[in-house]
This record gives sequence, structure tokens and C-alpha cells, in this order.
Amino acid sequence: MTRALEGKVAIVTGAGQGIGTVVATLLAQRGATVILADIDADRVESSASAIREAGLKAVGLSFDLAQEDEIADAVRRIAADHGRIDIIHNNAALQTESQRNRDLDVVQLDTHAWDMAFAVNARGPMLLCKYALPTMIDGGGGSIIHSASGFGLLGETTLTAYGSSKAALINLSRFIATQYGKRRVRSNVIAIGFVLSETAIETTPQAVKDILLAHHLSPELGAPIDIANVVAFLASDEARFINGAMIPVDGGFTAHQPSMVDFERLFAAAGSSKL
Ligand SMILES: NC(=O)c1ccc[n+]([C@@H]2O[C@H](COP(=O)([O-])OP(=O)(O)OC[C@H]3O[C@@H](n4cnc5c(N)ncnc54)[C@H](O)[C@@H]3O)[C@@H](O)[C@H]2O)c1
Repeated sequence: MTRALEGKVAIVTGAGQGIGTVVATLLAQRGATVILADIDADRVESSASAIREAGLKAVGLSFDLAQEDEIADAVRRIAADHGRIDIIHNNAALQTESQRNRDLDVVQLDTHAWDMAFAVNARGPMLLCKYALPTMIDGGGGSIIHSASGFGLLGETTLTAYGSSKAALINLSRFIATQYGKRRVRSNVIAIGFVLSETAIETTPQAVKDILLAHHLSPELGAPIDIANVVAFLASDEARFINGAMIPVDGGFTAHQPSMVDFERLFAAAGSSKL
């Protein structure tokens, strides 16, 4: 395993479960001291202690990304305790069942659900960068990776607030790259497709997984480690020439014509692949 992140201090938000825990673990394996942040104090401490038990450097820290004062305090503590901030992975997102049930099409959308999606998924990452960037720049620069989604690129029949907040995050990343690139800050965004996190494995019916897989160009669906590998690369100096980029990490889900699967079925039924 490469130690490309030795000596670096990384913050991973939403690291109490799912993709965030896997990213935090990989960054620690590559040598970083990782601050695992999450609103859920118990979960984030248990993820951090599992990393420490493997002999790696990890600290759990609980704060709410919807609360500016909590973010500012957390960054102050991290800067005081560790002296530098080299990597930020803006991974957290609000996707609880109650939020999803209220985040519908525009007419039926609960206005508070819209506000909460933006507070956690767009304003929170902006505030974390706002407070952490001076320390990152003082330390000689760093790498910020934001986790967006295909919902931030294309329309859907539901999850309007989630998708719109992810679209905001995509452009926030470019603004940060533009404003601080000369001071050696890189800011890139990954547009994640469907990933089999614990929650996704439990809550996604097989019929839905089958539809999603049919639209992938890869032979299988993605796993959290597929995201973590890209984050770890973008965090490392090997990615020093990548800045302001939006990288789909989705098995090709957004690379093909939307009608591809329907045409495949039509061709199969007709026994011909001619349009
Ligand atoms: N899993 C997928 O298929 C998929 C697809 C596209 C994009 N993504 C993106 O990847 C990221 C991680 O996805 P996941 O499936 O692992 O998510 P998850 O829901 O399993 O984990 C998200 C974490 O964020 C934390 N969080 C929520 N609100 C918070 C707040 N106010 N303050 C601090 N922490 C808060 C939660 O407690 C949770 O631990 C998200 O940004 C998500 O939008 C995931």
C-alpha cells in the first residue's frame, strides 16, 4: 500500500458510515491523520476507533454541517490540535428516509426539505471550506474533494432538492479552484453514481439494482472502495495537475444515450442492431 498521504491531515465529513468510513480508512492507510466528522457522535467515534485499532491515525469529531458556529469551532480545534489541514473530503449529505419522503417533485416538495438539503449538502461544504481554507493555504495548499451525484447533473422525477443542492456543490468546487488555485489549493468534484453502501444494499430492491446495472457500462455496480480509490488519488500530489474538474465515478452511467437500454431491448426483440 502506498504511503502517498504521509504527514497530511485530512477531514472527511459524513464519515460515521457508508462511503465516508471507507474513504477515511483508505486515507489513513495511505498515511494521513484523518479527522472523521459526522453529526452522529457514536457512529463517528466507532468508525474512528476501528481505524485506530488497525494502528492508524484517526480522530472522531461530531458537528452539524447545518450549523455555522459548530463548523467554525471544529475547524479551530482541528487547526489547533494538528497544525495543518491538507485534505478535505466533503462527503456528507442529508439522505435520511424522512428527508427523502419530503424531497419530491417541485409541486409536492416540502420547502423545509429544500432548505435542509441546501444547508447540509451545499452550504455546509462551503462553510467548511470558508473556515479551513486559510489554514490550508498557510500550510502550503491542499486538495478538496466534493462528492456530488448524477442527480446534480441530470433531471429526475423526485429528489429535487437533493439534486439541486448537488448541482450547487459542483459549481462551488469550480469557484474554489478558480479563487485559490494559484495558492496551491485544488478543488475537484466527483459525480457519484449508484454505490452499494450498507444503506443502499439494505434499502434498494433487487429490481431497482437490475435497472441500474443495465444502464452501467461496467459489468457490475460500484462499491464504496471504488469511490475511496478516486478520492485518495485526488487527495495525493500525483493529482497535482487536476483542478476544477468534475469527474463522473459512475461505471459509465451518465456516458451513454438515455435511450440505450430501450434500444438494446428493441434490437434483441427484432434480432437486429440496425437503427
Ligand atoms: N451511495 C450512493 O449510491 C451515492 C450515489 C451518489 C452520490 N452519493 C454521495 O456520496 C456521499 C456519501 O454517500 P453514502 O451513501 O455513504 O451516504 P450515507 O447517507 O450512508 O452517509 C452520509 C453521512 O452524512 C452524515 N450527515 C448527514 N447530515 C449531516 C449533518 N448535518 N452534519 C454532519 N454529517 C451529516 C450522516 O450522519 C451519515 O453518516 C453523499 O454525498 C452522497 O450524496 C452516494
